[in-house]
Amino acid sequence: MKRIQLFEFEDYDWFPSWLRVCMTNLIVVLHKLLGVSDILANLIAQALIKSNAKQIVDLGSGAGGAMPEVMKILHGFDRYKNVNLIMTDLYPDTEVIRKFKSQNNPNIKYNESSVDATDIANAPSGLKTMVNSFHHMDPENARKILESAQKNKQPLLIYEMAQNNLPLWLWWLLLPVSLLILMITVLFMTPFVRPLTWRQLVFTYIIPIIPICYAWDGQASMPRMYTLKDMDVLLDGLETEEYTWEKAIMFRKKGKKLGTYVLGLPKSNTINK
Ligand SMILES: C[S@@+](CC[C@H](N)C(=O)[O-])C[C@H]1O[C@@H](n2cnc3c(N)ncnc32)[C@H](O)[C@@H]1O
Repeated sequence: MKRIQLFEFEDYDWFPSWLRVCMTNLIVVLHKLLGVSDILANLIAQALIKSNAKQIVDLGSGAGGAMPEVMKILHGFDRYKNVNLIMTDLYPDTEVIRKFKSQNNPNIKYNESSVDATDIANAPSGLKTMVNSFHHMDPENARKILESAQKNKQPLLIYEMAQNNLPLWLWWLLLPVSLLILMITVLFMTPFVRPLTWRQLVFTYIIPIIPICYAWDGQASMPRMYTLKDMDVLLDGLETEEYTWEKAIMFRKKGKKLGTYVLGLPKSNTINK
């Protein structure tokens, strides 16, 4: 496999929840800048049709990522008007939960209790999505998730906006410069974070813990991504008569690559909706 196992700060249970949220808030901004929601809305719309699901259960939602934006797009179409979204995370944060509660949108909820993506069989029913969170799983857990989706006939859409393209030696060589660039980028992205809290500001511009942790996690994510070839290894033996897998690179409207997806679908319509 090309993927290697590096640590990310946000994976540790001792890592402060507020700091994890400040970091995932920045990913929300990045999604908006790159236009991830359009790509995701397209993928999810197709997955909903093919799986006949009426509910989306997002695993590893962080601060929500592109999902609330995706729901706005989907709800603009009659066909998807009644689709619900349940966001979940291994480390759900009370502030994030409060934010979505205060929006009073009956179609969008954030689960208050922890949901481990590796325990997919016990997650609420519906189309499972994992956006930028699959690379957090080591190969053993990654395989477990895929196996569980297939065994329990649960539709599963995995989307990663980054790709593991660079040779590892080049990634190490460029690391100091890449970290610096990412840290500087955070300084420009922060004003677009919503809600913009005093913590986000203080720990970015005065005590720059957020740019440091974000830069490391962002860079460490690259070699942790499963390439499509790595996915072939993980999916070995999981294609059956009753469950199929498809995967591909995604492109923006202008033709530039933006991530990869893997979609697992039960062939019959026997899934829970
Ligand atoms: C890089 S963030 C992505 C957040 C969001 N999906 C997005 O695109 O902005 C990864 C998220 O996965 C969560 N996570 C890590 N391991 C997990 C697990 N085993 N089960 C559920 N969530 C997990 C982390 O807490 C974090 O919020």
